[in-house]
Amino acid sequence: MKNKKTFYVTTPVYYTNASPHVGHIYTTIAADILARWNCLLGKDVFFLTGTDEHGQKVQEAAEKAGKTPKQFVDKIAKEFQEVFKLLNISNDNFIRTTNLFHEKEVQKTLQELYNKKYIYKGFYKANYCVGCEQYKTDSDLVDGKCLLHKTIPELREEEAYLFKLSKFQNSLLKLIKAGKYQILPEIRRKEIISFIEGGLKDISISRLKEKVSWGIELPFDKKHTCFIWVDAFWNYITGLKEKNVFDKFWPADVQLMAKDIIRVHATIWPALLLATGNKLPRTLFVHGYFTINGEKMSKSLGNVIDPVYLVKKYGCDGVRYYLMRNFVFGEDGDFSESVLAERHNNELANKLGNLVSRVTSLAEKYGAEKTENKLLKKLKLKEIEKHVENYKFDKALNEIFAFIDICNEYVQKNKIWETKNKKQLYELLDSIKAIAIILSPFIPETSEKIAKSLGFEIKLENISKPLSVERIKKSEILFKKI
Ligand code: MSP
Repeated sequence: MKNKKTFYVTTPVYYTNASPHVGHIYTTIAADILARWNCLLGKDVFFLTGTDEHGQKVQEAAEKAGKTPKQFVDKIAKEFQEVFKLLNISNDNFIRTTNLFHEKEVQKTLQELYNKKYIYKGFYKANYCVGCEQYKTDSDLVDGKCLLHKTIPELREEEAYLFKLSKFQNSLLKLIKAGKYQILPEIRRKEIISFIEGGLKDISISRLKEKVSWGIELPFDKKHTCFIWVDAFWNYITGLKEKNVFDKFWPADVQLMAKDIIRVHATIWPALLLATGNKLPRTLFVHGYFTINGEKMSKSLGNVIDPVYLVKKYGCDGVRYYLMRNFVFGEDGDFSESVLAERHNNELANKLGNLVSRVTSLAEKYGAEKTENKLLKKLKLKEIEKHVENYKFDKALNEIFAFIDICNEYVQKNKIWETKNKKQLYELLDSIKAIAIILSPFIPETSEKIAKSLGFEIKLENISKPLSVERIKKSEILFKKI
């Protein structure tokens, strides 16, 4: 039985057909914030991310690059791992769907589904978009083309193994309507309900190996490989099993993704879980889709934003902060580097950076004297907590920055550089401690720097524990203006 004090968060496993871009890091940073936040609350957290490495799309990308699929995915998976490291992502496991343990677990599951007669042999005819790695119905297409990739899908007509998805239509509807399988935001829940009410058909879960060889073999028919999504979904389970913590953390508390994959995700995945007698994740949270200056991010348009470039220029906290502050999590957004730069300069450097540098340099010169910190009452902790719980990261940051403004005004209004008031300086230092702790899930590197220079540990209970101020040293510059 899963302990309430645990928290399990996942991101999608990302395709290894191309290098990571800003869309991938968005989901992963949000998951990292939830993971770090729940750690701060004292929960035992498991955070899983990784890469989805099989399938036609990856196979074709490798061929184009003149590499074997294995060489190709090794390189891209490494890029994902490196970029997540640069961004200070605190994942507990990085699952790769080509790892042997995962492949074996998927085969066990396929065999179980076959034995239970949830998988049967048949003939399948449907349109398939390789870009999406998804089957498309006529209503998904505009002028016969996939909306996202603007390409005409392939018509597939072949012998295949099918999964009895239709059998789960009613139970899924019931679970979603009763909130037992929670889909957020509400607009996505409604979308999924009406999609399921439109009827779920059995789906093909295999491809002839001669067509897609880069996949997991069906254990009961070696002429076929497994449909990439069935393979990919299982990562959420093997990612735990690999570390021997499945019983401790399953079911997932929240699964994050963008709206592009919600339909497959909120139907096939929970149906597979029901078919294998597993509990369903508690919540699926769907965030919006980024465009770049109003256009879809795509290789062919040449507007894909490289996260490594961003981190090198704005620092990992600059990027994390912009992505979480600038967009409403759950709604679409337009990425703009000039806004990133503006927020970096005006908010991180001018507001937070200046506050810390000013107060620590005054305290180094004049000292600080312990007193009750009345200023701290203006930090709306309860509201901030609620916002994060409701995935309103932008609102949480707004609230924290409103308090940073209050602190800056306090310095200004009291002209502390003239009065050298040690008690007021103490209140400010103690408030900076609280700010750093509460900001630590969002901008962990900066919070650590502040904690180190003021000599406290990042723990929730330290917000109300008075800071000890024997020797305060001026802090290093936290953000260089760009
Ligand atoms: N491999 C599948 C997921 C399998 S999960 C069992 C897949 N991979 S993907 O590489 O295409 O990643 C899609 C996810 O990446 C989105 O759901 C979202 O989390 C993130 N994003 C990719 N591009 C994005 C934007 N342009 N905007 C926001 N997030 C996007 O689908």
